Amino acid sequence: MADAENAGTMPALMAAQQPTLIETLRTTVQDDLVAADDTIRRELASDVALVNQVSGYIIGAGGKRLRPLLVLLAARAAGASALGPHVLGSVVIEFIHTATLLHDDVVDGSGQRRGRRTANSVWGNAASVLVGDFLYSRAFQMMVRLKSTRVMEIMSDATNVIAEGEVLQLMNAGDPDTTEARYLDVIYRKTARLFESGAAVAAVLAGADPAIERGLTAYGRHLGNAFQLVDDSLDYRGNPAERGKNVGDDLAEGKPTLPVIHALQHGTPAQQALLRRAIEQGSLEDLPAVLEAIESSGGLEYTARLAQREADQALVALEPIPESVHKEALRQLAEFSVSRSY
Ligand code: IPE
Ligand code: IPE
Ligand code: MG
Ligand code: MG
Repeated sequence: MADAENAGTMPALMAAQQPTLIETLRTTVQDDLVAADDTIRRELASDVALVNQVSGYIIGAGGKRLRPLLVLLAARAAGASALGPHVLGSVVIEFIHTATLLHDDVVDGSGQRRGRRTANSVWGNAASVLVGDFLYSRAFQMMVRLKSTRVMEIMSDATNVIAEGEVLQLMNAGDPDTTEARYLDVIYRKTARLFESGAAVAAVLAGADPAIERGLTAYGRHLGNAFQLVDDSLDYRGNPAERGKNVGDDLAEGKPTLPVIHALQHGTPAQQALLRRAIEQGSLEDLPAVLEAIESSGGLEYTARLAQREADQALVALEPIPESVHKEALRQLAEFSVSRSY
C-alpha cells in the first residue's frame, strides 16, 4: 500500500513548475477553494477504516479539481460573495465526479488514475464500487444541507443521465458502426452533463436571474463537451506521465471514440478493416497501425475542430454575464479545455 500511496507524482510535479493556467485561475477564488478543501477533508470522514483509506487515496491524489473551480467561478461571475453556499455546491460536484471515477475505472478496467494505481487495482473492484457509492451518497447528504429543491432537481436529474451515459457507452463498446451522433450523445451524458449541472447549481445558489442561469448552464454544457472531446483525443496522443492515466485505454476497451469513428469513415478500405477489427476485439495489439490510420485520415484534427467549436460556443454563452475577473477566468477555462495536455 505504501508504494501505491507514494506513486502520486502528478501534483508534486505540477507544484514544482511555474504556475499553470489552472493555478492562476484558482487565485481568483482562493478563499473559496481553501474552504472547499476543508469541506472535502471533513466530509470524507467515516467510521469505516476502508472507506477512509480508499476515499482518502483517490481524493488525496488531487486531480485537476476543474469542476469545483467551475462551480466557484460561475457562482462568483453570477454575483455571489466569497464563502457562500456555492462552496458546498462545489464539493458536492467533486464528490459525484470522484464517485463516477471509482466506478468508471472498474468498468473500463483501468490501471492508472491521477498518477497513481487505480483504487480497483490496489483494493479490487468490490471496494471501489462500494466506496464510490459512499461518495455518491455523501454528496447527496451534503446537497440536502443546501435546502434548495431546485438544486436537488438539477443534481438528481444529472446523476441519472450520467448513469445512462455510461450504460449507453457500454452498449457502443465493440461496435464499429457507432455513429458520431451516438458518440456525441454519450459524451454529453457521461461528462458534459456534470459540468452543465455544476454551472446551473452555481447560478441557482448565487440567486442569479434566469438569463444568467441559462447562459452559465449552456457554458457548462459546451465546456464539458469540449473537455471530453479533447480527453478522447489525448487517449491516443497524450503523455501518460503528464495525464496521470494510461494512453490507449479506449482502444483496449473497444470504445469507438470520435478519432476512430472519423477514421472509420475516411480511412482507406484497408485502414477501415483494421479499425473495425481493433474495435471489435478491443485489443491494443494493433495500436501503432490504429494510430497511423487515425492520423492519416485526420481523426485527431477533426476531433480538435469539434472541441474548438464547443469552446467557442461556451464563450458565446457567456455573453449575458456581466464582465468581471471571474467571467474572464471562465473564458480562460474554456481555452484550457481545448489546449490542455493533461
Ligand atoms: C476525468 O476527468 C474523467 C473525464 C470526464 C474525462 P478529469 O480529467 O477532470 O479528472 P481529474 O479529476 O482531473 O482526475
Ligand atoms: C469519463 O469517462 C466519464 C465518467 C467517469 C462518468 P472516461 O472513461 O472517458 O474517462 P477516463 O479516460 O477514464 O478518465
Ligand atoms: Mg475510463
Ligand atoms: Mg469510461
